Amino acid sequence: MTRVLYPGSFDPVHNGHLEIIETAAKLFDEVVVATMVNTTKDGVFDLNDREAMLREATEHLPNVTVRMFAGLVVDLASEMEADFILKGLRAVSDFENELQMAQMNNAASGIHTLFIPSASSSSFLASKFIRDFTRFGGDISKMVPESVARRLRERYV
Ligand code: PNS
Repeated sequence: MTRVLYPGSFDPVHNGHLEIIETAAKLFDEVVVATMVNTTKDGVFDLNDREAMLREATEHLPNVTVRMFAGLVVDLASEMEADFILKGLRAVSDFENELQMAQMNNAASGIHTLFIPSASSSSFLASKFIRDFTRFGGDISKMVPESVARRLRERYV
């Protein structure tokens, strides 16, 4: 049985993340999606809200579980006995930072990171742009699950 950990900010989860989660759910026996703290980003939704949105968005996937963790990815991976960390790659610009994190995590604990490329149809999606669009009245309804769109509108409108 292969268990993978898909960590991220998910602030909030969008359709690009969901595509990666759905692909992972086909490839692996068990997928744990963890909303975590990225110290280089200002959080907008707190971890409880991000976790709730992830749960709503993934409830159709029986082998996917969701949790939050305010610590190191390698510690969560070890606690849950993950075989691999999983990350999505949208573009070459993502790669440098993702590679460095993968190497750091591998050096710290021996765990390997697997990358799944996003489909070109969702490779432009980013939580920060979705928040901006909502804040200034743009239409994000095709970019996020309905429950996320509702929470974004409640937050910004
Ligand atoms: O969706 P993001 O913002 O690209 O996800 C980045 C995230 C949350 C996975 C990264 O910031 C992270 O791993 N945070 C947890 C703390 C940690 O383990 N930092 C060391 C990374 S080498």
